Amino acid sequence: MGTDERKSGTNTRLAHIGNDPGDFFGFVNPPVVHASTVLFPDAETMATRNQKYTYGTRGTPTTEALCQAIDELEGSAGTIAVPSGLAAVCVPLLAFLSAGDHVLIVDSVYYPTRNFAERMLRRLGVEVEYYDPHVGARITDLMKPNTKVVFTESPGSNTFEMQDIPAIAEAAHGGGAIVMMDNTWATPVFFRPLDHGVDLSINAATKYPAGHSDLLLGTVSANEACWKQLHDTFIALGVCPAPDDVYQVLRGLRSMGVRLARHQESAFAIARWLEGRQEVAQVLHPGLETHPGHAIWKRDFSGASGIFSFVLAKGGKREAHAFLDALKIFGLGYSWGGFESLAVHVSLEDRTIARGSYPGPVIRLQIGLEDVEDLQADLETGFEALRAL
Ligand SMILES: Cc1ncc(COP(=O)(O)O)c(C=O)c1O
Repeated sequence: MGTDERKSGTNTRLAHIGNDPGDFFGFVNPPVVHASTVLFPDAETMATRNQKYTYGTRGTPTTEALCQAIDELEGSAGTIAVPSGLAAVCVPLLAFLSAGDHVLIVDSVYYPTRNFAERMLRRLGVEVEYYDPHVGARITDLMKPNTKVVFTESPGSNTFEMQDIPAIAEAAHGGGAIVMMDNTWATPVFFRPLDHGVDLSINAATKYPAGHSDLLLGTVSANEACWKQLHDTFIALGVCPAPDDVYQVLRGLRSMGVRLARHQESAFAIARWLEGRQEVAQVLHPGLETHPGHAIWKRDFSGASGIFSFVLAKGGKREAHAFLDALKIFGLGYSWGGFESLAVHVSLEDRTIARGSYPGPVIRLQIGLEDVEDLQADLETGFEALRAL
């Protein structure tokens, strides 16, 4: 893509990034290439692997189209696509950590990231430590000579703490570590991690890029300095995604901007409505002025997606379940970023630092593309069920 196009608006870019229709007879979309074997024209080319595509695990026109599109969005030197968002967390950690290294992971991290650190990284001899999401530049105090990676996720999973990414990146680099960020919440449309000092940007493309709750995919985008090591590890592991899923994510990108705008608008409307409810103690949405991380969100992010939490004023599991069981439109399910609204009673049991002090249960909402009035009416039914207890 030329410089002129890079200056275009987000939706213009989302409509055109990735493949060049001229490469495939003018067809607007790239082909879905199902491939293991790629043939070489002669033995010399085969021996030197001197052609663009050499084997299915190493990339196809379909994966290349998606990875180029993500590079444009992230401003990265290279992107790998892997079979799930969780794989997009694990592959870079495996790429940059060795036995004897120390990793700092934010305590409000997506639980399966912690699970990977506990089950795999520790077993491989990596020293794992969790830190307060509000640490900012004070992360310097936690850095050790063997700290190789600072892992961030902002806002945090389920409780949406904002991290001061530029301050953390500066301190981490000062101590010789690289910075990874799980940027799934914002997508590169609302926050570009590499512009703020992050070295590797992680995205569960399962969520907003795919947008339809029908596939799993992850991407990791690296700056120039980290690209080779990330790519070498990706090739070593053979964790390539299935071509149909890659194609669907590229397809999803075309409408991601307009879907995100709708998710954002509806989520804000419902978050503000919830703030005025007497049954609600607190709404955990960084775009709200009442959120402790609002200033950071406003400074660094250009928008908010459609997932946030709220805290009931009182009660526990019984109240949370009564509320959830009354919902008809909100489905009870994990994941987010799809067209349909979802709700879940959040567990903070895994946390060691960022447990917060909440007077009642924390309920996470993924606001889908339905009509806001219908979603509010559904939540109203949940509140009625609470009153009936
Ligand atoms: C913040 C975050 N990162 C990563 C993932 C993992 O994505 P996937 O479901 O594709 O493995 C999720 C999934 O919920 C998530 O919420």
